[in-house]
Amino acid sequence: MSGIPVVLDMDPGVDDALALMMALNSPELDVLAVCTVSGNVPIEVATNNGISILGMLGRLDIPVYRGSERPLKREPVHAAEVHGPGGLGDTELPIPDVEPSGSVTEFLGKILSERPGEVTVIAVGPLTNLARAESKRRGILQKAKQLVVMGGSIREPGNVSPIAEFNFYADPDAARAVVRSGVELTLVPLDATHQVQIGRSELDRWVDGKGFAEAHFVRGSMEPALAYTDRIYGKASFCLHDPMAVGCVLRPSIFQTTRTSIDVEVEGELANGQVVADLRPFVDDRHRKGVSINWVTDVDADAFKAMFKDRVLPE
Ligand code: BDR
Ligand code: CA
Repeated sequence: MSGIPVVLDMDPGVDDALALMMALNSPELDVLAVCTVSGNVPIEVATNNGISILGMLGRLDIPVYRGSERPLKREPVHAAEVHGPGGLGDTELPIPDVEPSGSVTEFLGKILSERPGEVTVIAVGPLTNLARAESKRRGILQKAKQLVVMGGSIREPGNVSPIAEFNFYADPDAARAVVRSGVELTLVPLDATHQVQIGRSELDRWVDGKGFAEAHFVRGSMEPALAYTDRIYGKASFCLHDPMAVGCVLRPSIFQTTRTSIDVEVEGELANGQVVADLRPFVDDRHRKGVSINWVTDVDADAFKAMFKDRVLPE
C-alpha cells in the first residue's frame, strides 16, 4: 500500500463511521489502524462499530485497537440522542467475528517511535488514548508527522454545552494534556465543522437511486441526528465534523488555518471543556496564555462536500 500513513483514533459514532469510510475510500491514504475510545458510545460499542464498518468495506485486514473505556479522571459521557443507542443511527450492521488487537497506548508508542515523522494521527473522539500514550512516554506524540484533532470551539458556541464541544467536554483533562504536550496540532473545531451541514433534501439527492450498502448506511445513520437537530434547533441538519479532519489531510488546500494560543478549562462548573483562546488583539504574541496551535477557520464547503460524496457515495 502506498499513500499517507494514517492512524484513526475515534469513537464511532455516525460521523466517525463516515470519516472512516472516507479514509478507506481514499487511495491517497494508507490506513494503518483504527483505535477506539469511549465517547459517543461505550468502548465495546465503539470498537464493534469500527469493526463493522471495516467489514462493510471489506477491509478487515486493518487492525482495530480497543482503547480507553473511560476518560482520564471523570465518568464517561455518551451521545445516544445524536448517534442512536448503538452509535450508528438507525442502522444495524453485522459485527464480523474479529478480535481487537492489543493496547492502544502500546500501539501508538510503537508505531510512532518506529516511524518517526511519518505517521499522521487523525483523532476524532475524546483525546483519552492520546493523552495516555503521551503520559506513558513523554514526547511520543511529537513523533507523529501531523496530529489532526476534531474538537473544541474557538469563537463558536459549543454543541454539548453553551461553550463546550463534545470531544473536549467528554475528556477535558485529556484535551488539556494533548494541547499542553506542545505537539504540533491542527485543530478542526466547531467553527469549521459548522460550515459543512447537510439537510434532508441534499441527503435525498445524494442517496436516492443508489442501491449499494453504503448509501443505505449513510441515510439510516444520519436519521436520529436529523431528527434531533430538527427538534432542538428547528432545522434538520447533519454536520460532517469528523470527515472534515480526514479532509484536512486529503486536501489541505481547501481549508484555511491560523495560529492561536489556547488552553482547555477542566474545572469550571459551567465551562468544563471550554477552549480558552487568547484572542486579545492588544497582547504581544510572546505574552499570550496557552499553547500556540494551528486551527481551521474556514473551509470551501462545496469543495469539501463534493470530495466527501465522491469518496463515500461514488456515482
Ligand atoms: C464531535 O462529537 C461527536 O459527537 C462527533 O463524533 C464529533 O467527533 C462533534 O462535537
Ligand atoms: Ca467522533
